[in-house]
Amino acid sequence: MPSKKIFLDEDYIPKQWYCILPDLPKPLPPPIDPATRAPGAGIVEKIFPKQILAQEMSTERWISIPDEVREVYRLWRPTPMYRAFGLEKALKTPAKIYYKYEGVSPPGSHKPNTAVAQAYYNMKEGVSRLATETGAGQWGSSLAFACMLFGLKCTVYMVKASYQQKPYRRIMMESYGADVYASPSTQTKSGRAILKENPDSPGSLGIAISEAVEDALEHDTVNYGIGSVFNHVLTHQTVIGLEAKEQMAVAGDYPDVIFGCIGGGSSFSGLFWPFYYDKISKKAPKDVRFVATEATACPKVTKGEYTYDHGDTARLTPLVPMHTIGHDFIPAPIHAGGLRYHGIAPTISRLYQEKQLETKAYNQLEVFEAAKLFIQTEGIIPAPEPAHAIKGAIDEALRCKETGEEKVILFLLCGHGYFDMQAYDDYLNGKLQPYEYPAEKVAESMRKLRQLYPWLDEVKKKFI
Ligand SMILES: Cc1ncc(COP(=O)(O)O)c(C=O)c1O
Repeated sequence: MPSKKIFLDEDYIPKQWYCILPDLPKPLPPPIDPATRAPGAGIVEKIFPKQILAQEMSTERWISIPDEVREVYRLWRPTPMYRAFGLEKALKTPAKIYYKYEGVSPPGSHKPNTAVAQAYYNMKEGVSRLATETGAGQWGSSLAFACMLFGLKCTVYMVKASYQQKPYRRIMMESYGADVYASPSTQTKSGRAILKENPDSPGSLGIAISEAVEDALEHDTVNYGIGSVFNHVLTHQTVIGLEAKEQMAVAGDYPDVIFGCIGGGSSFSGLFWPFYYDKISKKAPKDVRFVATEATACPKVTKGEYTYDHGDTARLTPLVPMHTIGHDFIPAPIHAGGLRYHGIAPTISRLYQEKQLETKAYNQLEVFEAAKLFIQTEGIIPAPEPAHAIKGAIDEALRCKETGEEKVILFLLCGHGYFDMQAYDDYLNGKLQPYEYPAEKVAESMRKLRQLYPWLDEVKKKFI
């Protein structure tokens, strides 16, 4: 039986985003300015528009989506949800598997849900250009797309490994009118410093963030756009989960367990936050579980430490309370470029500490095996990042087969993989290696962090 699409009324697009901050089990610890060792947002106030800053610290649970943003969402929203009959049949599982598909947006992922909102607020406040980083190219394409729609210029620092692996993503960004540089680049002081030390550096998200932030700080009418981690980004993504709840209702089901992948945590949060709200406000008919899947090549939650660390390699950002494997992390060039970030959204860290969500790490070989089964049963080629969530969902469905449980599984297919053909070619030709980031390297980075800030544990004890 082919998979079945669950429709929503064409006009159904949420009118408000959901912000989890008032509903966290414990408030988020404040960011710390390392210069004063006290709470302080540092440069953050200089690189975002006021509306975004207000959303970052919102005490409101529901935030109105501007009409102009909803009009743009109309281009591809509501996104489809599918019941994966083909996959269920292949697995011979009694579980029901659903997935929400964000690959139908013009740039091909969930990222424009926030890019459009960020470009809109910046345009309203008179900004002329946005600078940003991109890993896999998904975020860069999304911000380039959004800037084009609201008449802003866009500069993208693209992690060099991806720039080389994914020329088509660069061309897409350039087609939307953006300027794209391989990072580390010679455009910025931080890029030049890295290149001096290591001319062959493959780059990292942390390095590319440093370049984009520096660009924004040095130019008056330039701001910075961020694709994940920050509260406002995750909030904008909740259109995914709000629609998914409606679609589950149309299907007459409710999930027992929800899977998503985590780079910085925005797509997964976008899906699960509205279900979390159901749960804590006692509206959920079931005790739904939330499972975040990450790459063993970048295991920030499963092997990282919950502490204060910088969001970028050049240490321009304040210290942020999050699970981290160290801001000096240089990833192996695995294909899931969007998962190669050393930290995670502070909200995810808080919820994980409070046992509100689980985490699983998978290596790229097992992830591509799962993607292959998905492709051959459902037909859509997933991006390597959400293939981690597919792996989680398949394992859960196989567990149900053993126990006979008829669980309802929901996962997020947050982007398509039609620009990731090199990755599939490598997999199909047996060239992919499973890769685990060594625990010793995490310990070394944590030692260095404490050498840099000998007072780190004091501050951690006080605030985390
Ligand atoms: C398709 C896709 N999925 C997932 C991610 C990971 O980011 P996040 O955890 O914020 O969703 C990325 C990041 O670039 C991405 O491009």
